[in-house]
Amino acid sequence: MNVVILAAGKGKRMHSDLPKVLHPLAGRPLLAHVIESARELGAENICVVHGHGGEQVRAALDAPDLAWALQEPQLGTGHAVMQALPHLDIAVSPAPTFTLVLYGDVPLTRASTLRRLVAAAGSDKLALLTAYLDNPLGYGRIVRVDGRVVRIVEEKDADDAERAIREINTGILVAPTAALARWLPTLGNRNAQGEYYLTDIVAMAVSEGMPVATAHPDAAWETEGVNSKLQLAALERVHQRNVAEGLMTVGVTLADPARIDVRGELLCGRDVAIDVNCVFEGRVELADGVSVAANCVLKNCRIGRGARIAPFCHIEDAVVGEQSIIGPYARLRPGAELGRDVHVGNFVEVKNSTIADHSKANHLAYIGDATIGSRVNVGAGTITCNYDGANKFRTVIEDDAFIGSDTQLVAPVTVGRGATLGAGTTLTRDAPPDQLTVSRAKQMSIPGWKRPMKKK
Ligand code: UD1
Ligand code: MG
Repeated sequence: MNVVILAAGKGKRMHSDLPKVLHPLAGRPLLAHVIESARELGAENICVVHGHGGEQVRAALDAPDLAWALQEPQLGTGHAVMQALPHLDIAVSPAPTFTLVLYGDVPLTRASTLRRLVAAAGSDKLALLTAYLDNPLGYGRIVRVDGRVVRIVEEKDADDAERAIREINTGILVAPTAALARWLPTLGNRNAQGEYYLTDIVAMAVSEGMPVATAHPDAAWETEGVNSKLQLAALERVHQRNVAEGLMTVGVTLADPARIDVRGELLCGRDVAIDVNCVFEGRVELADGVSVAANCVLKNCRIGRGARIAPFCHIEDAVVGEQSIIGPYARLRPGAELGRDVHVGNFVEVKNSTIADHSKANHLAYIGDATIGSRVNVGAGTITCNYDGANKFRTVIEDDAFIGSDTQLVAPVTVGRGATLGAGTTLTRDAPPDQLTVSRAKQMSIPGWKRPMKKK
């Protein structure tokens, strides 16, 4: 099967420099959703017709399985499909090929609906995806005689009786490719908009005696397009609601299905609970029994069994081990890998570091480019000084070490197994195992000292 995706339109009402089909829904361009639907159907040939912001669109989404046809200028939907013709497989034997037309700005059509449409086309029909709307204003209307589709009339070309028709053209259709190749060059543009209408192929099919079948979407939003930021936001909510329902169906507890945003893939084990206002990006895995409290942002990360993420955490490209407790207000940056039962508390930042089992950094710390062993206690205010302004260096803290509060570890430096660093230490050389290392000015008290007084 061929799929042609129409994506040349301007999108004036988005009031944006970004081409319309590149505006994101669930974190990905609208057009990416449509391309994914086409792939899901197993299309052999996918051609995107692009025009406005063409190169930008192509650069953003190009892939080896896509063909691109430039439509310049844009003279209508029929003219758009014509630009794709050279890229389509037109073979009629052993079986005739079909072409499915999708819109790049209609992102949420379900594969099951498209399969129904393809089935309706059978081996020799033109099939239209149509819907019944209470307010059909603006859409092409499906004109039937004795129940049979005879043509489509655009709103601007319709008379009053035709405007009263509630069955509308969603724009999505399936046609035998050889017939398309025959019909498209004969399209005219003598209509209210001076455009080459793809919809005129319906009357052509009828005049050839080709049956015209119809199929319908399950839900209205499946065929809704994005022309404005309002419509974009509305479809985003529809999509997020669908994702939330999918999660709850497999047993995830959502405090409020209207307050979760999944912009990618969220994989959850059993008994996972997610509180309000969490955002998941990229691929996120939450193992059995994980809880994520309110207002967390998790991107490309794996959270181990039974781990608890307290409110207001930001976790990206990181791994959290089983039974660990993160936050509130913790930040795990790329390369943070935490073992089992690790505690990372408030205002602790971890980057490109491993922290082994049962270690804790509970308050106000920066751990960057560090290797931390097991059962280590990192005191409040600890900082790994990993960067000299030009290069980065590693800090190694071995098992059972105790790092006193307000300590700076000037990397490269190693704290030996079981070592203790006194509070306030600035460590510039390795600390030997099992000893107390402290760098601190001697404390003194000056008897009889008087505070200065303000001069009169
Ligand atoms: C089209 C249909 C109408 C249908 C409606 C559904 C025609 C003539 N009319 O009308 O029956 O009810 O969609 O939304 O087909 N595009 C191009 N190149 C062009 C023109 C359009 O790529 O030259 C693309 C647009 O980017 C968009 C799609 O085709 O993705 C539909 O174009 P649009 O201008 O919205 O068509 P409508 O006039 O709404
Ligand atoms: Mg439109």
